[in-house]
Amino acid sequence: MLGGTRGLLPRLVVLLALVARARAVDNAVCATSSDGGVDWFPPANRLSADATAGGSTRATYDVGAAFNVSYAKTFKVVRTKALVGGALAAEKTYVLHQCGTPRPTVDVDGSSAFPSDAQFFSVPVRAVATSMTVAVGYLEQLGARDALKMTDPAYVHSPCVQRDEENGVIVASHIEYNSDWSENRTLWRNALNGISGLDMVITDHYDGGTGSSGTAKDVAFHASDADLDMLQRTEQIKFLSLFFNKEAEANAYYADQVERWNYMSSLIASAQSQGRLRSGLKCAWVTASGGSYTVSWAKYKDDICTAAGLTTYAQSGVSGTSHTFPSTEAYLTAMAGVSIVIDESYFYNPSTSATKTAVHANLDFTGRTLPSMNSATGMILRLDKHVSDGDPLYAPAGYYPSEGMAWFEDPYVHPALVLADFAQLVWFSSFGIEAIRAGCPRFFRDVNSDDGVIKTTASDCDVWENARINQLCLIQLSQQRVTLAALFSLPGSSSSAAPVSRIALTLVVFAATVMAFLT
Ligand SMILES: *[C@@H]1O[C@H](CO)[C@@H](O)[C@H](O)[C@H]1NC(C)=O
Ligand SMILES: *[C@@H]1O[C@H](CO)[C@@H](O)[C@H](O)[C@H]1NC(C)=O
Repeated sequence: MLGGTRGLLPRLVVLLALVARARAVDNAVCATSSDGGVDWFPPANRLSADATAGGSTRATYDVGAAFNVSYAKTFKVVRTKALVGGALAAEKTYVLHQCGTPRPTVDVDGSSAFPSDAQFFSVPVRAVATSMTVAVGYLEQLGARDALKMTDPAYVHSPCVQRDEENGVIVASHIEYNSDWSENRTLWRNALNGISGLDMVITDHYDGGTGSSGTAKDVAFHASDADLDMLQRTEQIKFLSLFFNKEAEANAYYADQVERWNYMSSLIASAQSQGRLRSGLKCAWVTASGGSYTVSWAKYKDDICTAAGLTTYAQSGVSGTSHTFPSTEAYLTAMAGVSIVIDESYFYNPSTSATKTAVHANLDFTGRTLPSMNSATGMILRLDKHVSDGDPLYAPAGYYPSEGMAWFEDPYVHPALVLADFAQLVWFSSFGIEAIRAGCPRFFRDVNSDDGVIKTTASDCDVWENARINQLCLIQLSQQRVTLAALFSLPGSSSSAAPVSRIALTLVVFAATVMAFLT
């Protein structure tokens, strides 16, 4: 009986916590006239300033690299920073007030005027449009796909957005080009005007916002800014969450991704320090186009290689984060020292065009002896493992649908999956990471082994949605920690098996998993 009493207290605490949570103000619903004085943004409903899951007790603070936020009882003021790499990304002020409350006239201090170009939104926003694939991954992860009302189907990868767009639930439009290749936004903007109750258009600073509306509904979203590192890109989920009153979800998601990223990279570092994985291998992000060869070491690319235990090729003596080689010889000399080539070259519809032969030819690797050409010494990876089928139903004259890569949509919000996918390929034979499961985004494709492109279509939506809602992709990452910790006897694991037998065991588990997929 004593045991029963002991169990009661924790259960009571849990119960009280649930009650407390139920009483916290629900700002997914709008204020009514009887709600005067309600604080819609108490700490539990605020962003955290760092990688912690709880909301901040402070009402004004910086959130990472790109913006800061100040909360009042019925509104919040978001100020974006001009990012170093975004010359066109001016500082902006967005004033977001709880729907049903009046638009505020003075700032959170109760007296300062808002800047004359401040933009006002009633939140949570209900109707959003964007031509940017980058925003789609964030919206889905926030559970805000229902708010997406219009998109450009040419590039979207998400199978559920493909489905909704093909069913007419999401409106399709696109940016037209004039005969001199200048942008003609008339069609796109007319379509925006046709969206009833449109609250917000997510755009970015490139070319002044290709898919913008040219109105105060435009919100600049800079998650793909080259100056942001891998986790700072993920952190931008917090920025979008402000418009949906989903701060708590964004805090928790970001904190979890940071933990998973750090766990995996420290595991790899530990395995290397124990001599169980090779050290010193070099990776290079290469773009080849018409005989011109460029390497890039943008921060997030360097982060991916570094976290996986590789050294990123960066041209010495060059400022900036990319370098175009002066000659093919100089390029090939550099490639002679690179084990893992990540080929970023553009192929129109990669599922048919980016074959092993074509990729080798484009890289000018055909017939050469290079570390990346031989599976014993390296590999060539492409970023087109998952592509969409375009939209076969949307076919206006002069419009060319193409396969949209998950790489331009999902890596921002899924850094832990990016790292798992990459490390699984790079360390395939010696590291106990499983292939990413069905319904979860994959990015990298091993060209030399004829690893195929996977096309996702509208019919894959159910599997992907199930994986997202039930967190299957994250559960897989959690489950394999047991294997990995045992394999590399990290602090806290107690396995004493010899390394070789542990590796063998892992390979058996891995093979069983692969078999489970194939059957
Ligand atoms: C918030 O960011 C804006 C834009 O960079 C800046 O002008 C302002 O001083 C910042 N406010 C706080 C409280 O950090
Ligand atoms: C821009 O597009 C609209 C709508 O498709 C068309 O009517 C118009 O002629 C185009 N403008 C130019 C300069 O081509």
